[in-house]
Amino acid sequence: MSNQVLPLLGRIADTVSRAIAEVRPELAGSDPVVRRSDHADFQSNAALALAKSARTKPPELAEALTTALDVDGLIARVERSGPGFLNITLPDRVIWNQLSARLTDPRLGVSARDEGQRVVIDYSAPNVAKEMHVGHLRTTIIGDSLARVLGFLGADVIRRNHLGDWGTQFGMLIQYLDEHPEVAWHHDELDPGTSAVSALDELYRTARAAFEADPEFADRSRQRVVALQSGDPSTIARWKDIVAESEKSFHDIYDRLGVLLTSDDSAGESTYNDLLDDVVTELTDRGLAVDSDGALVVLSEEVTGPDDTPVPLMVRKRDGGYGYDTTDLATIRHRIRDLAATRLLYVTDARQSLHFQMIFEAARRAGWLTDDVEAAHVPYGTVLGTDGRPFKTRSGGTVRLMDLLDDAVARAHTVVADKNSELPAAELDRIAEQAGIGAVKYADLSSSRVKDYVFDIDRMVSFTGNTGVYLQYAHARIRSILRKAGDPDVSIDPGTELQPAERALALELDAYGTALTEVSDNLEPHKLCGYLYDLARDFTSFYEACPVINAEEPLRDNRLALCRLTARTLRHGLDLLGISAPESM
Ligand code: ARG
Repeated sequence: MSNQVLPLLGRIADTVSRAIAEVRPELAGSDPVVRRSDHADFQSNAALALAKSARTKPPELAEALTTALDVDGLIARVERSGPGFLNITLPDRVIWNQLSARLTDPRLGVSARDEGQRVVIDYSAPNVAKEMHVGHLRTTIIGDSLARVLGFLGADVIRRNHLGDWGTQFGMLIQYLDEHPEVAWHHDELDPGTSAVSALDELYRTARAAFEADPEFADRSRQRVVALQSGDPSTIARWKDIVAESEKSFHDIYDRLGVLLTSDDSAGESTYNDLLDDVVTELTDRGLAVDSDGALVVLSEEVTGPDDTPVPLMVRKRDGGYGYDTTDLATIRHRIRDLAATRLLYVTDARQSLHFQMIFEAARRAGWLTDDVEAAHVPYGTVLGTDGRPFKTRSGGTVRLMDLLDDAVARAHTVVADKNSELPAAELDRIAEQAGIGAVKYADLSSSRVKDYVFDIDRMVSFTGNTGVYLQYAHARIRSILRKAGDPDVSIDPGTELQPAERALALELDAYGTALTEVSDNLEPHKLCGYLYDLARDFTSFYEACPVINAEEPLRDNRLALCRLTARTLRHGLDLLGISAPESM
């Protein structure tokens, strides 16, 4: 059973709100503008923000609020500063009690704020018969972390892997494979280290060249597309085989990355095929889809092109075929209508922003997307190489993700071995894997999502700076302190005086839930990274200023409680980023 500890920030905000309502009933419900402060525990700017509406001067309103605040056991002291800031200090006992409540709660006191929401998160979505590239790494890692955070906050999360498993390109590939039974591409026929999807990717390029060079092959390929679309059994069997082999390669990467996606989450483009006719009929009946030179389009009312003409969303191509736009009209209708989603997230790169803006607009006009449903495109920037250009191999090709992960793990191996030469070989291997994978994920998650970021493995695996390895190490170090102390079950004595470094750490620990709700509101995992980094640094300052193991009781237990709560929060937060927290490093 969770205690659902309201963070001190929230409790202070409530108290200031009550004071506002008491002093100026007409301003009840106004934002109390409370935040953490360097001058005291918290600061409220309410007097400045509200003076005008209250027809008074900020210092006067500040004074009235101070008097009204002076009643609650929650507050020790209110000081006015500047033109009307309220600097609020809490009694030490209140802060210790707050920690105590978090300490005994498996949820660390974080409430399930998003309960009642059903969130569909569309992420990863690589293309069948194509090697996954670094862009897919970003959507996979960001989407997975959002799935974890929102799930922890109580939302019912449905993961959707919108695999690119349909399209005319498969006609050509199937035809080529049929005509070349001698080529190996199934995972069990390949050398270890080669995946089926990279074999298929290469075969696809060979097939493409044949298509361009040989008109007869091109004709046979076109007939294959017709066979695929009309459900010819042997063509469908071949296509299924290609999809299954590709998915297996994708899941090898997912397993290595430790993401939540399973094959149950796969719902590729082809799964919407049966819905497309119906979607198109509905859009036509509502007068939204209109003819344009034989094609069927929805003309945007929001987006115009170069010569002020509305940009079209392609509902049905002139040849009668359906494409990417139509499928996404079907995903949004299906997810709202059949899956009863209240929140829809599409995690794809920033270049698809226009696509989703137009899909959402059409869905709104069609009446599917109503005000009680939130639809958001969650865009992210490009992965750059250390030269500042889009990340590519030296020869300009796509970087194979497995190679990239191997590389990160190898470098992590070196830095971990340098740091701790006593680790037994098997343990070193295990920790290097956790550190290397964690480093790649953390580097991605900690950069501001919409910005481009530089993929620099050496920096990622560093033990210093805002890196995954730094946080894993901070956690491992605290665990080692706790082990040295015998890892006792401690309880807090709220009567001891808080040292400044203890106080800073305690207030930071208390802000964990707030950091998570911010991730949910803004869909930005880097807020959680920043929080964990600040927490680790506050711990370092605390540990430098306050002896733990050699302290007298009850100080010792209180400080061990701070250690334990910090280690648990770091581990929990890393887990929500999808990063493991080894016990030692
Ligand atoms: N397969 C697409 C790509 O590789 C991403 C699909 C994203 N999801 C969606 N519902 N459109 O770019």
